[in-house]
Amino acid sequence: MPTKTPPSIIAIDGPAASGKSTLGLKLANELGYLFFDTGVMYRAVTWIALDHHIDIMNEKAVTALAENSPIDVVPASKSDGRGCDVLVAGRDITWETRLPEVDANVSVVSAYAGVRAALSQQQRRIGQRGEVVMVGRDIGTVVLPEADLKVYLDATAEERAKRRFDELTARGAKVDYDDILAKVSERDRIDSTRDIAPLKAADDAVVVDSNILNVDEVFERVLNLCK
Ligand code: CDP
Repeated sequence: MPTKTPPSIIAIDGPAASGKSTLGLKLANELGYLFFDTGVMYRAVTWIALDHHIDIMNEKAVTALAENSPIDVVPASKSDGRGCDVLVAGRDITWETRLPEVDANVSVVSAYAGVRAALSQQQRRIGQRGEVVMVGRDIGTVVLPEADLKVYLDATAEERAKRRFDELTARGAKVDYDDILAKVSERDRIDSTRDIAPLKAADDAVVVDSNILNVDEVFERVLNLCK
């Protein structure tokens, strides 16, 4: 029987902490593809704005940062739990992009039209080269609507908050479950109600419910879709 080539462009979208990055990285490693987590670019712009003491509500200033900051996302240089390295002008800011201040402000930044235009153009250029697993909120709908396989990974807010709680606790952070649940829900609310590129499943996406599946089961399910 002839072997089918796996889809070249794979888009994985879904709400906060639904397991997109874990799935995307595993899948990219399995297929020998590039893993590209687009969320880190929005996080990097947010961190630069906070670091420069720029008011997050100042759309013009934040947009200028997105347009002019040399943000690089490259394969992980260390095995410390990161999926990739995030560099700004050569400085490694991978863990800074995960700070609670970034979590709290990133959805405001990512709703700005100019920020989205600047970042999604770069994401599209990288994605169009193929052999890529790209993860985000609008990959299947806006960034790469021509993707060969689109997955929308979902789970209840409670389950996702529990996973984020476990992830942060494992990293040694002192966190409160109810606080995480409130923040994850607020980020989803902003992400799915914004005017431009709101979070939603593409019409031709395969929706995978990760409430009832563990990491390995989600991976197997999506790998089967690639075969
Ligand atoms: O890892 P987690 O699911 O918590 O978030 P993320 O994927 O790192 O994305 C952080 C934020 O960036 C999201 O809450 C969105 O506001 C924004 N984002 C977006 O608007 N579009 C994307 N393609 C990726 C992320």
